[in-house]
Amino acid sequence: MAHAPRPRLPVGLEPRRRAFSALVAVEGQGLGTQQALRDALDLPTPLEGPDRALVSELVYGVERCRRPLDRWIAAACARGLYQIDLEALTVLRLGAYQLAWLDRVPAFAAVDTATELARQQLPHGRIAFVHGVLRELGRRHAAGDRPTGDEWPAWIGQRLDLLANDLGLDPQAMRDAAGQPAPLYLHAVGGASEAAEAELQEAGVPFEALTVAAVPGVWRSAGGSLFATQAFATRRVIAQDAASAAVVEWLGAKAGDRVADVAAGRGVKSLCLAARGAKVTAIDVGADKLLDAKALCEQAGFPLEAVVVADASQPLDLPARSFDAVLIDAPCTALGTIRRRPEVRHRRRAADLLRLADLQRRILEQAAELCRPGGTLVFATCSFAPEEGPLTVAEFLRDHKEFERDTGDAPWIAPLLDRHGDLRTTPLHDMDAFFATRLKRKK
Ligand SMILES: C[S@@+](CC[C@H](N)C(=O)[O-])C[C@H]1O[C@@H](n2cnc3c(N)ncnc32)[C@H](O)[C@@H]1O
Repeated sequence: MAHAPRPRLPVGLEPRRRAFSALVAVEGQGLGTQQALRDALDLPTPLEGPDRALVSELVYGVERCRRPLDRWIAAACARGLYQIDLEALTVLRLGAYQLAWLDRVPAFAAVDTATELARQQLPHGRIAFVHGVLRELGRRHAAGDRPTGDEWPAWIGQRLDLLANDLGLDPQAMRDAAGQPAPLYLHAVGGASEAAEAELQEAGVPFEALTVAAVPGVWRSAGGSLFATQAFATRRVIAQDAASAAVVEWLGAKAGDRVADVAAGRGVKSLCLAARGAKVTAIDVGADKLLDAKALCEQAGFPLEAVVVADASQPLDLPARSFDAVLIDAPCTALGTIRRRPEVRHRRRAADLLRLADLQRRILEQAAELCRPGGTLVFATCSFAPEEGPLTVAEFLRDHKEFERDTGDAPWIAPLLDRHGDLRTTPLHDMDAFFATRLKRKK
């Protein structure tokens, strides 16, 4: 009996060429995967439909699986990978990834399109080598050979296991979830407003309520294009992971509160605070970032009270104990955003943990000085490493008896809290992995 043919991914060269250029930009120019992918999808002309989906799948897939892919490629060729230039290696990774992971791309198409890509993108002298390795990979694949080994560097895998064990979750499920693509979340920055909801409905942007915790004003996108809506153009609704939104909502800043947003970056959290009517002072070491933060908040109609370019690990030139609330979104390894930024696993080293933990400790010490008696401080990192949160906070509370944990009275936060009362979101919540603690200054 004849079987209906399985739907196949496009075999065209254009999506592979765009994936190639994004991957070379990530590794060669140090771009983030998200930005490189956006450029590749939309330039010179926007790709549509299945081709668009294929580019995303290839770019995220190759970045995620680079370690096992490289082991497989190294075994199939006579020379060490360090002797292969980035462009040739990228063509090989793309071919190998399609062979090993995309069962909807026939093996011959994976090899043929990679060979054609090599012809277009590589100097003449390297094409024969790449073709030879692709043919060898094809033979190995036909014989049942597959890439093996962990996609996680050991130090990251260990910390994912620690996170799972600490929260009583399954370590293997945690590793699997951390390797999946992240969903898009929508955050109505002024809170759960009916106007924003109606606007999205009118624009045909489907969304659904969160299942794990009802973070105020946050929905999970269920398709459509947020970026084409008026709500997005005016920044009433932004794209922000539910964990990041939870951190800023948990601070609980009210209209009129003086809030210091320390390590404010390009101002996504400043915008959320200003939209609630808080008077926000955005502080960051990056002057260019603060210019973006200022522009973002002005564009949305919620101007910042002040911007301060400063190294927050040093004493700050701001009145001590003068802010009702302090948010510290500390610089960190960004391990917790690894689903969106798969390149983080290749760029970071275990040694970064200690260096950044030390910086976080010093920023917390200085920024805490800004919080008034009775005021609230939230210290957050987008990391699941114990060094970048739990250990820092334990030490801070040991040395600063004037602060105590205060989880606040918002009922929605409860499902996201660990046994100490700290926020610990994870990919198993289908969120970025954030750590945050909420403290109150007693005197
Ligand atoms: C996690 S990002 C902040 C993201 C931002 N809060 C947002 O929601 O858009 C960390 C920020 O810390 C800043 N930073 C790094 N070292 C710093 C320091 N010593 N003092 C102040 N800011 C610092 C970086 O420039 C970066 O913008």
